[in-house]
Amino acid sequence: MLGASGSIGQQTLNLLQAFPERYELVGLSVHTQLDKVWPYLSQLRPKWLAITDAATYQRARALVPPSIQLVGPEEFYEVLVTHPADIAVNGIVGAAGFRASWQVLHYTQGRLALANKESLVFGGQWLAPYRNRIIPVDSEHSAIFQCLQGEKKEAVARLVLTASGGPFHGRKRAELSRITPHEALRHPVWRMGSRITIDSATLMNKALEIIEAYWLFAIPHRQIEVWIHPECLVHSLVLFKDGSMKAQLSPPDMRFPIWYALSYPERQVLPDLWQGPLPTLHFEAVDEITFPSLRLARQALDQSPSAPAVLNAADEIAVAAFLEGRIGFLDIFYWLEWALAQPEAYLAPATFSELAAIEQAFRQRLTAKLPQSIHASGG
Ligand SMILES: NC(=O)c1ccc[n+]([C@@H]2O[C@H](COP(=O)([O-])OP(=O)(O)OC[C@H]3O[C@@H](n4cnc5c(N)ncnc54)[C@H](OP(=O)(O)O)[C@@H]3O)[C@@H](O)[C@H]2O)c1
Repeated sequence: MLGASGSIGQQTLNLLQAFPERYELVGLSVHTQLDKVWPYLSQLRPKWLAITDAATYQRARALVPPSIQLVGPEEFYEVLVTHPADIAVNGIVGAAGFRASWQVLHYTQGRLALANKESLVFGGQWLAPYRNRIIPVDSEHSAIFQCLQGEKKEAVARLVLTASGGPFHGRKRAELSRITPHEALRHPVWRMGSRITIDSATLMNKALEIIEAYWLFAIPHRQIEVWIHPECLVHSLVLFKDGSMKAQLSPPDMRFPIWYALSYPERQVLPDLWQGPLPTLHFEAVDEITFPSLRLARQALDQSPSAPAVLNAADEIAVAAFLEGRIGFLDIFYWLEWALAQPEAYLAPATFSELAAIEQAFRQRLTAKLPQSIHASGG
């Protein structure tokens, strides 16, 4: 379980704890929040625990019991190969998750239950050849994956990703200029990590999901639509060439797609299923004038192989700056547009190490340009 201290990680560990007879936890990683996994160590008895943040690793060395192999940032990628698992769940946040996905797919025969969409946004071209071993955990992609079971790829006309709309659905641009991090972190339906919650408010989450779907399902982005669906019960739909549409529904609870990915190709019992008839379901188009994120994702896919990684890096940095009060909500869009106009977003690196170097240089340049202190910006 990679990123075990995060929202996806904790929900996965809870499921493993509830069904100890079915799964054995081989190993887990945290970056800084060791306390979040501490209670699970004695019960789930993993063979290894990786701490990917160097300072946290140094502090933890005296604490971890000798029965568990403690792995530092240097050996993290190695342990994924030397202790391979049948299923690796990647719940790391950000482009940092790519390398772990690569190690699992390239060097082991195991399946990758992928929540870390940035793996594909950053390095989709290198992971796509292994797509048969990727089981999506992102609820929208899990829904499409489920709808496609038993179907031929050639029969698909369009994919439709659903979006809650986030906390600012229905608001116009002028109303968004004074949004605070506190308001943006209040998602109407889902409880998630802070980056993805802000990305839901800007619709950048859906933009990254278009790129994710492009690589996972090998489909041109013009055949991927986004519909706002505030009830968050239909997690996505597939339109087939004969005019039929399939949808996947479940309560808005990440345990469902996580459990599906752990169980695939079986369907295992999950006790708290939903009851009663469905409420009325609503769907509407995205206001792409107020929220330009979807256009930016499509532009990045058309522009160059490096552009999606640069767009994602810009978003990671801009979201962190917004959460720290250094830039305003609308400034996030400004910096995303700016990112795609930079020379780093027009390159075709031959290897992912080359892409990582380009992306790193871009991160440094953007970080230096953003205000370093709290700033009352209207965007
Ligand atoms: N949460 C959801 O409901 C949801 C739904 C769909 C998709 N996703 C995707 O799943 C991924 C995880 O989301 P989340 O909401 O679970 O995030 P989160 O709560 O912020 O957790 C992120 C995890 O990644 C670890 N991490 C952070 N920086 C790292 C680094 N540089 N290297 C290695 N590990 C690092 C964190 O460790 P520490 O906490 O120990 O520092 C934590 O375990 C994201 O890609 C997100 O888009 C999430």
